[in-house]
Amino acid sequence: MKTQQLPPLLDSSRYADLLKRFSESGPFYTSYPVMAGWQKDFGHDEYIAALKDFFTKEGSDAPLHLYVHIPFCAKLCWYCICNMTVSNDRAKIQQFLNYLLREIDLLRRFFDQNGIKPNIREIHLGGGTPSHLDSDQFAQLTAKLSTLTNLKDLDEFAMEIDPRTTDREDLAFFASQGVDRISFGVQDFDPTVQKAINRVQPFEMVDELLSPEIRKLYTGFNFDLLYGLPHQTRETLQTTLKLVEKLAPERVCFYKYAHIPDVRKHMKMIKDADLPPAEELPLMCTESVQTLIEQGYVWVGIDFFSKPPDDLAVAVANKTLRRTFNGYTSGRTEHMIGLGPTSAGAFGRYYSQSLFEFPDYFKAIDEGKFPVFKGYKLKADEVIRRDIIFRLFCEQRVDLDEIDSSYGIHHEEYFDFELARLRSEFVPDGVLEFSGNTINVTPMGRLFLRHISRVFDTFTRDTAYQVPRPALTGNRSLM
Ligand SMILES: C[S@@+](CC[C@H](N)C(=O)[O-])C[C@H]1O[C@@H](n2cnc3c(N)ncnc32)[C@H](O)[C@@H]1O
Ligand code: SF4
Repeated sequence: MKTQQLPPLLDSSRYADLLKRFSESGPFYTSYPVMAGWQKDFGHDEYIAALKDFFTKEGSDAPLHLYVHIPFCAKLCWYCICNMTVSNDRAKIQQFLNYLLREIDLLRRFFDQNGIKPNIREIHLGGGTPSHLDSDQFAQLTAKLSTLTNLKDLDEFAMEIDPRTTDREDLAFFASQGVDRISFGVQDFDPTVQKAINRVQPFEMVDELLSPEIRKLYTGFNFDLLYGLPHQTRETLQTTLKLVEKLAPERVCFYKYAHIPDVRKHMKMIKDADLPPAEELPLMCTESVQTLIEQGYVWVGIDFFSKPPDDLAVAVANKTLRRTFNGYTSGRTEHMIGLGPTSAGAFGRYYSQSLFEFPDYFKAIDEGKFPVFKGYKLKADEVIRRDIIFRLFCEQRVDLDEIDSSYGIHHEEYFDFELARLRSEFVPDGVLEFSGNTINVTPMGRLFLRHISRVFDTFTRDTAYQVPRPALTGNRSLM
């Protein structure tokens, strides 16, 4: 595999303009349209119709990804944007689990009644904290999921764990249940930062979990890291990255911390004065990207890193990388079904999202209905725009002639407004170039994929973008 070119640090001659752009929020396009554009009049009936439409046409044998949301955590992390409830009440967790198991039954009955044999290839347990289920509850979940597919036969069975409440025995147990990938919420190894975010988990704690015996049980490990956290500096981040290198996870997700204390009240525990200055953020980001590449990671896209032979790195080389609700995927599965409150589905032309609040979620299941309250069916024009945005995110280039022949359009007329904007706003900043009829994002331009993509986004491009409440979904689509 070729070594990637190192991204140059932000061009200092344009630093002020680039900084302004960097500080503007924008969607991470794990879907198009982003959730804010989905419709509220999309419930159980519309969801059933969408599933039938998909599975009786293109989706009859399509490899599927199941996302299952477990919304409980042992303790509150003050930076957390996710949809979760802090509870250590086993009865409450069991009550939720009973409903989740019934939702899985509902899906299985739907498949049986419609003669559909779903080709489920991947499962991701997210949260909240799936490892917060006790072993009996976890076994109940895997037994129920086994009614949909053979868990030992999956291409990938991943779950998120909290290192503070998981030991090696738990990790061996999850592996015995079929799990083959683990994602650790690391965020940062600096003790001062950890204290300021109420998430104290020293390096030694994670190191001890990742013993050689445990490593043998799994295909790979992922670390989630955040930059922009209180008391973080460029130096402390580099120290964290050195510690990450020692533990050598196959994948790293490197997200920018989204601080929205007005929406997530517990973020008020993090003092604004302790956050790094805005002008440091692009430098924190680019320096860390550079370090990760020097450590042998392939920069998969905007916020994912993967060390060959991990399959995301292979997917970059083979051009099979895809974007879904869980961020980047190797392209084995492009269609996703969500289970559990707030989970999102994305299959064919459809998107769906499930209810947030437990009483609403429980009520729908008591009525024998899928707990879906929101969704979308893409129109033909939106399919083209989604394709362009996902190509930008996955390949950082778009061959417009290919788009023309796939969709029977002439890009000069169809996208005249968008192409003019790219030429006038982005080419001079050095974030993209045109080579004939191909848009090429420069290495530095990767930092601005959200901004470039927004030019094609007819839903949000004309409004000031806010990190939306529904970003609080379980899937790893954060903004
Ligand atoms: C859905 S959470 C679940 C992870 C798991 N419960 C844990 O803490 O280990 C997944 C990831 O979202 C990211 N995340 C949480 N809050 C965030 C925020 N405010 N901004 C950006 N990313 C955030 C963190 O990196 C976290 O590991
Ligand atoms: S970061 Fe993870 S463990 Fe912490 S509150 Fe959020 S979901 Fe729970």
